Amino acid sequence: MATEYAKLIIDGKELQLPVITGTEGEKAIDIRSLRQTTGFITYDPGFGNTGSCKSDITFMDGEKGILRHRGIPIEELAEQSTFVETAYLIINGKLPSRQELITNSILLNDQSMVHEDMQIFYQNFPRLSHPMGILSAMVNALRSFYPELMQTDEDFQKVAIRLLSKVRTMAAMSYKISRGHKVIYPRADYTYCANFLNMMFDSPVNPYNPDDDVVAALNTFWILHADHEQNCSTMAVKTVGSAKANIYASISAGISALWGTLHGGANQKVIEMLTEIHNSGASIKDVVERAKRKDNPVRLMGFGHRVYKTYDPRAKIMKKVCDKVLPKLKVDDPLLDIAKQLEEAALSDSYFIDKNLYPNVDFYSGILLRAIGIPTNMFTVMFAIGRLPGWIAQWKENNDDPEQKIIRPRQIYMGETVTPYVPLSKRLE
Ligand code: SDX
Repeated sequence: MATEYAKLIIDGKELQLPVITGTEGEKAIDIRSLRQTTGFITYDPGFGNTGSCKSDITFMDGEKGILRHRGIPIEELAEQSTFVETAYLIINGKLPSRQELITNSILLNDQSMVHEDMQIFYQNFPRLSHPMGILSAMVNALRSFYPELMQTDEDFQKVAIRLLSKVRTMAAMSYKISRGHKVIYPRADYTYCANFLNMMFDSPVNPYNPDDDVVAALNTFWILHADHEQNCSTMAVKTVGSAKANIYASISAGISALWGTLHGGANQKVIEMLTEIHNSGASIKDVVERAKRKDNPVRLMGFGHRVYKTYDPRAKIMKKVCDKVLPKLKVDDPLLDIAKQLEEAALSDSYFIDKNLYPNVDFYSGILLRAIGIPTNMFTVMFAIGRLPGWIAQWKENNDDPEQKIIRPRQIYMGETVTPYVPLSKRLE
């Protein structure tokens, strides 16, 4: 029962709308009764002022640069946890016990292989297909191999593990097959991240030994991408799931949304931007000026955020990981220096300061992926693997929420008013 109300006066009538207060003090006006009591709807393109749900999974404060998963600060997870443990936390709402972690790892290993028939699918994509298009199609295809309905929480747990494990294997497979190389199978003696690296880079002629620093960096990379409340791709997953489509189709929709250059596709665009600056010798000042011009669609990729109006806490951590890992790997990437110069120039420019435009998670992430050896066209696939726990958890929370219905916003019609049909014979040539 609400204890606080917002007053709305429409056509001289006063409406009391209940106020919902979250555990972190966020407030929302509950407008569910608005249309049937006033005939009015609200208007909020991009939903920047609209809450779509109540959620227990992730808390973000965009003004203070706070990000927590199930209450735990991202800084502590990045420093002390692993991706598998953070995925468990996000999906199950608590950190696993030692035994739960062991069981979880055994299940991830059991589910790590991909049906051999799926390899034929890969063979039939054009060689230059983008890995995100392949991944979206392959995840949707999983439903054909695992058609059993998901009716219990136990079924859900099994499907969650299957997605977490197989999507990682699929990503590495698409890389190997795209190069015409032999697919490397997962190994039970490797951890989740080490397995991925081995499946990507091992080969019969050049055996790969996962480096501890690289495995640790990959864990951090995926922890930083694990969930981010109601972002574009998560809303795609929830929208498809709200129609009671299966989870594979829902996650496939999320992968497609993430591919967009304004969203997860930005990490690839950042590296292309930095590479272009490096190769052209363009001055940092000119690049910043160009990004400010209204007549120029080019933006400073990796900068700005719908929610963060301060430094994205994930970008801070990613930059620190780059500073630590690149020297250890003896990687001297000129793009890192360019990125830092770009950040410094932008953050001292009134355009970026006044619009609260700061580096976001994508600004430094590509530098780290390059150092690990991930090809640029797979950067967004790496983001997708990291975001899987969030998509899975948010899909389940939405489907279990008794207040949720099929997602179907309204509109304000601005087109022609009623117009009679004109037969072809009477229409002007
Ligand atoms: C992700 O939602 C999430 O949580 C997403 C994400 C997640 O983890 O899921 O954090 C991942 O998608 C990070 C964002 C990656 N995208 C990019 O780096 C692409 C570059 N950034 C922008 O396109 C933009 O900042 C967005 C899309 C990220 C946010 O767009 P908004 O909030 O809709 O901002 P806006 O377009 O309304 O811009 C406000 C103003 C505009 O100028 P004015 O019209 O007010 O004069 O800021 C300008 C914009 O032109 N602006 C930029 C800019 N971003 C915004 N100008 C130059 N360079 C930029 N990067």
